[in-house]
Amino acid sequence: MPKENTLNTVPTQHARVLSGMRPTGRLHLGHYHGVLKNWVELQHEYECLFFVADWHALTTHYEDPRVIPESVWEMVIDWLAAGINHGEATLFIQSQVPEHAELHLLLSMITPLGWLERVPSYKDQQEKLKERDLATYGFLGYPLLQAADILIYKAGMVPVGEDQVAHVELTREVARRFNHIYGREPGFEEMAEQAIRKMGKKNAKLFRRYRKAYQEQGDQEAMEAARALLETQQNITVGDRERLFGYLDGSGRLILPEPQPLLTRASKMPGLDGQKMSKSYGNTIALRDHPEVVERAIRTMPTDTNRVRRNDPGEPSRCPVWQFHEVYSSDEVKQWAAAGCRSAGIGCLDCKQPVIDAVLAELRPIQERAREFEEQPELVRSIVAEGNEAARDLAQETMDEVRRAMSIDYR
Ligand code: TRP
Ligand code: SF4
Repeated sequence: MPKENTLNTVPTQHARVLSGMRPTGRLHLGHYHGVLKNWVELQHEYECLFFVADWHALTTHYEDPRVIPESVWEMVIDWLAAGINHGEATLFIQSQVPEHAELHLLLSMITPLGWLERVPSYKDQQEKLKERDLATYGFLGYPLLQAADILIYKAGMVPVGEDQVAHVELTREVARRFNHIYGREPGFEEMAEQAIRKMGKKNAKLFRRYRKAYQEQGDQEAMEAARALLETQQNITVGDRERLFGYLDGSGRLILPEPQPLLTRASKMPGLDGQKMSKSYGNTIALRDHPEVVERAIRTMPTDTNRVRRNDPGEPSRCPVWQFHEVYSSDEVKQWAAAGCRSAGIGCLDCKQPVIDAVLAELRPIQERAREFEEQPELVRSIVAEGNEAARDLAQETMDEVRRAMSIDYR
C-alpha cells in the first residue's frame, strides 16, 4: 500500500475484498483469465464478496431489461463453474440488498456534480454507445452507485481492471468527504478518551505517548506503532477502534474507510481473431461452449496470411494462434511451433493441435462443474439467497452508522 494512503484505509486485519460484475450472460475465456482466476485465488486469502451488478446493467440497458435476469443466473453458474466457492466467498445480487440504493442516495447529497461529470467513463461510454440515450440521471450517478457498493461493506480491496480505477478513486474521495463532514460526531473527543481507557492502563499510556509523538513531532513510526497497538486490542469495539484511528491523526472518526483498487493484470487472453476477446467482436470461446464447437473455432482461426500454402514459411508474431501458445504452451511446445512455422516444417493445423488440447483440458473441469449446477437450479438459487442475506446483514450495520452520522435515525 502506498504510504500516503495508510492513514485513512482499513486496518489490514479488516481487509475485505469486494467486486462486482455486470450480468452479461455466459462468460468466456477472457473473463476467466482476466477476472475469475483472480477471484478464485483471492477467496482463499481474504473475506470475499462478489456480486452481480444488475442495477448497473440497468443504467445502460433500461430499454430492454428483460435479458437481465437470465444473464444473472447464467453468470452465477459460470462463477461457480470457474471455481468460486460459495463456502468461501459470499455471492449475491446487488438489487437484493436494497441498502446499496439507500447509501447511494445519501452519498448523492454530498457529492459535487463535477466529480461525476469528470469521471472518464462518463463521456467515453456516451460516445461509444451512441445508439443509446445515456444522458440520464442514472448513468451519471453510476460511479457513485459503485462507490456505495464498495463503502457499504467497508471493503479494503477492490479488484478491478484499468478502466475501473477512476471509480475506486472517486469512492475514496467520497469516503473522505463523508468522514470529514460527519466523522466529528457529537462528543467525539470524550468518546475517544473513554475508548482509550478501555484498553487498560498500560496500553492507554502507550497509546497517548504515541499519539503525542505523532501529533507534536509528526513521528511516523509512533503512528505505525499506535495503529499496530489498536489492531491487537480485544477490549474495544469496532466503533471505538475506528474512533481511535481518527483520533490519532486528528481527522475525526473514520466511518467509511477508503478502499484500495487491486489492479488485475490485464488479461493476455486474445480473441480468436487476435483482438481482445469480447462478445461485441464475436471472437470468444465461451466457458460452456461444447468441445466440438471449441475445436472447430480454433481449427478455423485465421493464421499468418503469408502462409497461403503448406510450404510457405510463416511468422508467429503475425499470427493469433501464436498468442494462444503464449497463454497455454510450455517453452518446449512454443519453440517447436515457432521453428516449425518459420521453416514451414509444420502445418497450421499441426500447430493448433496443442492449443486445442490445452483449451479443452482447461474447460473440462469447468464444464463438469457447470453441468452440476445447471442440473440443480434450486441449489444455485439457494446459494445466492444465502449470500443476499449475509451481505444484507453487513450492509445494514453500515447503514445504521451512516444514518446515525447523518442524523437520519429516529429512535
Ligand atoms: N462497474 C463495474 C463494471 O462495469 C462493476 C461494478 C459495479 C463493480 N459495482 C462495483 C466493480 C463495485 C467493483 C466494485 O465492470
Ligand atoms: Fe500461426 Fe502456427 Fe500457422 Fe505459424 S504455424 S502461422 S504460428 S498457426
